[in-house]
Amino acid sequence: MAVNLKGRSLLTLKDWTPVEVRHVLDLSHRVKKERKGGKRFLRFQGSTLALLFEKRSTRTRCAFETAFGEEGGHPVFLSTADIHLGTKEALEDTARVLGRMFDAIQFRGFKQSTVESLAKWSGIPVYNGLTDEWHPTQVLADLMTLEEAFGSLKGRKLVFVGDGRNNVAHTLLVGCSQLGVHVTIAAPAALQPAAEVVDWARSMASETGSTVSVTADPAAAVQGADAVYTDVWVSMGEEEKSAERIALLSPYQVNDSLMAMTGRRDAIFLHCLPAVKGKEVTEEVIEGPRSRVWDEAENRKHTIKAMMIATMGR
Ligand code: CP
Ligand code: NVA
Repeated sequence: MAVNLKGRSLLTLKDWTPVEVRHVLDLSHRVKKERKGGKRFLRFQGSTLALLFEKRSTRTRCAFETAFGEEGGHPVFLSTADIHLGTKEALEDTARVLGRMFDAIQFRGFKQSTVESLAKWSGIPVYNGLTDEWHPTQVLADLMTLEEAFGSLKGRKLVFVGDGRNNVAHTLLVGCSQLGVHVTIAAPAALQPAAEVVDWARSMASETGSTVSVTADPAAAVQGADAVYTDVWVSMGEEEKSAERIALLSPYQVNDSLMAMTGRRDAIFLHCLPAVKGKEVTEEVIEGPRSRVWDEAENRKHTIKAMMIATMGR
């Protein structure tokens, strides 16, 4: 059956079926190829996109703005310093006003409940550009990058090493299990993923033929990995936990020795960025031949464009 995502939001990848995620990945490869081939389109001409940011961003903001703008759309950047978002005006009132003026909304911020309320009250597609809980547009780019590196996703093995209960680790559990990628989280006991996310991913994996593992042992975890993935030890909004995280996560640094333990000469390194070099990853790994982080960052744009074409483009 043809996939139709018109009018849909992306609040968490869990809301989308594997077929829908696959559809957006296929479209992502297509839009990347078109762009590289010099083809130009105006698939967002006459449309407007509100970009709401409570937290900072380089890649997500630039990906949404350039992807939308270069195809004729008009993106409007609105930080919390610019608009009444939850202060002075009720969130549902802001959402209803934006819904009357824009074709879609991107929200990056703290609470998942904010992005959900925006979707509920605005009546237009809302995209989660990162909350404390989830980072769905990131994982679309991660899956695309893995697929580019190996030509396929089913049966590949991705190992996330680090803060296993953060937004990126949780979203990888969802996205990998949906697309049949074996996923392992290596994290200290205090930072392992939420049981309900692991249970959700295991149930999905049983349908797609993949597996989900959680361990405290990074050396054992990375054996046979196609991709080793890490993220910052201190996510935005958790800055006061910095000393505690460094103490807990230092044994989980991704360095040459850990990459060698994959036993795979072709294993790649992924990181959503921004990276703190010398902490979660060494300079030698992120700058080395296994690193695909710049492709991964570029793919944010192609996947975000594809998602917007699928949900609101022409
Ligand atoms: N990976 C990512 O979301 O980067 P930004 O924080 O720069 O948007
Ligand atoms: N886990 C990180 C991801 C940044 C893209 C954070 O939330 O800060």
